[in-house]
Amino acid sequence: MEQFDLIVIGSGPGGYIAAIRAAQLGKRVAIVERYKTLGGTCLNVGCIPSKAWLDSSERYHETVHSHALHGIEVSDVKLNMKKMSERVAKVVEGITGGVQFLMKKNKITVIQGHGSFKDKNTVVVAGKDYGFTHAIIATGSKPASLPGVTVDKERVITSTEALKLVDVPKHMIVIGAGVIGLELGSVFKRLGAKVSVVEFADSCIAAMDVDMGKEIQKVLKKDGMDFYLGHGVTGVTRNGQEVTVKAKNKTSGEELVLTGDYCLVAVGRKPYTDGLGLENAGLKADERGRIPVNDHLQTAQPHIYAIGDVVRGAMLAHKAEEEGVFVAEVIAGQKPHLNYLLIPGVVYTWPEVASVGHTEQELKEKGIDYKVGKFPFLALGRAAASNEKNGLIKVLADKRTDEILGVHMIGPRTADLIAEAVVAMEFRASAEDIGRISHAHPTYSEGFKEACLAATENRALNM
Ligand code: FAD
Ligand code: NAI
Repeated sequence: MEQFDLIVIGSGPGGYIAAIRAAQLGKRVAIVERYKTLGGTCLNVGCIPSKAWLDSSERYHETVHSHALHGIEVSDVKLNMKKMSERVAKVVEGITGGVQFLMKKNKITVIQGHGSFKDKNTVVVAGKDYGFTHAIIATGSKPASLPGVTVDKERVITSTEALKLVDVPKHMIVIGAGVIGLELGSVFKRLGAKVSVVEFADSCIAAMDVDMGKEIQKVLKKDGMDFYLGHGVTGVTRNGQEVTVKAKNKTSGEELVLTGDYCLVAVGRKPYTDGLGLENAGLKADERGRIPVNDHLQTAQPHIYAIGDVVRGAMLAHKAEEEGVFVAEVIAGQKPHLNYLLIPGVVYTWPEVASVGHTEQELKEKGIDYKVGKFPFLALGRAAASNEKNGLIKVLADKRTDEILGVHMIGPRTADLIAEAVVAMEFRASAEDIGRISHAHPTYSEGFKEACLAATENRALNM
């Protein structure tokens, strides 16, 4: 039986990064992946293809709707969805091929097939046993559904199928105004579909700071997206090419009936451990399907770790990556650190939404005394030059010490701007610290400085 220091099950951003870090630290590593291509949800049917679609659809939308404003007259603009989807597929092919290259470069053995624990020191793949000293479960997640909703993968679809559509839907009904609902809803809206979003909560992206949800809804609504918030979906039926979504207004009890040609179910994701043979290794998933782990990401078997979407916490690629590096270093006897509070979250709509640290709701719940500094993009020279009038940056700082406790941004390129806030918070900066640092002019980053000044003593300079 072939023996490894470490076997990683699953090649998503958690698994493949863990494998690379362990190999860098001198371990003999194997990675098991059930699909032919490496990279997991993120690279194959998640982050990368969705961002590729967002980019292409934004270019199309800009060409049709915004170029004229800049004095660029274009006529006869044609959308070639087939070509657009081929580009997305090429991007995925390139990036997953890159992971294959990285495995080779780091001398990591790739075992293709479904991995399953035979016992607590053996994984079996395609009938062959592989022994391990340590293992990392990085099997990720799958789309969740709702009672009364059958995902047929043709007309009632999840993000996986939505990313492969080659025709623009006439009317796409999206269930869930979370991250996937807003990102993919934006893609199809930009390409010309009517998009209706039905959401149980009273706001969009409800897990983020409340001002972000309000602002993104306002902008997307102005762009023509319809929202039915406070509505719980009760059922979805399909009749030929037509889908009907029924929902109940949770306050009035009134029934909402929407008819379209596609229904995108985007109500969250669930951990994936099917056929993993957890019981053979003496492990058990919890009631939500997650693998329980301690602060070192060890399972009930201390030499078996679990990371990424299959364990508690945010289902984000960079969270999975941080956990992968963390575990590889723990296995190698190092003492790494991981600060979950400072894992940023981004929604790649336009404007983009980005956030790190505590939300205002959380600070209220925890009874922490805080102050708020806000700065609108409208007041920035760089935003005016680019006609980016929507959005704001909101800084929450400790009322007594001025330490930054949370930063929430909605506006142009905030997905990249948030990095400064993460660094500031990692080094426990005060709002005034940032307010006293020079930021190039004119840049969007000045908005963060101004919001910090606003939080310090209400001393924003350009407002
Ligand atoms: P996964 O990426 O799910 O990988 C798990 C891998 O394990 C899979 O390849 C699976 O085939 C394999 N596997 C499972 N069981 C077995 C087995 N028994 N044997 C062998 N192999 C197995 N996150 C972001 O941070 N930014 C984004 O922009 C973003 N966009 C997203 C867009 C969409 C549409 C979706 C669906 C998700 C998005 N995410 C994004 C979330 C991100 O994709 C996940 O958080 C991330 O992929 C989790 O990584 P992971 O390594 O835990 O698992
Ligand atoms: P989500 O948790 O973001 O949103 C699901 C939404 O569905 C919630 O707002 C919820 O209230 C709503 N919902 C649930 N039941 C409902 C019902 N019966 N009727 C109406 N609405 C209902 O989950 P989503 O968007 O599916 O994304 C899954 C995961 O993928 C997220 O955890 C996210 O972290 C990750 N992801 C991350 C991205 C990013 O980082 N940019 C992009 C896409 C996905």
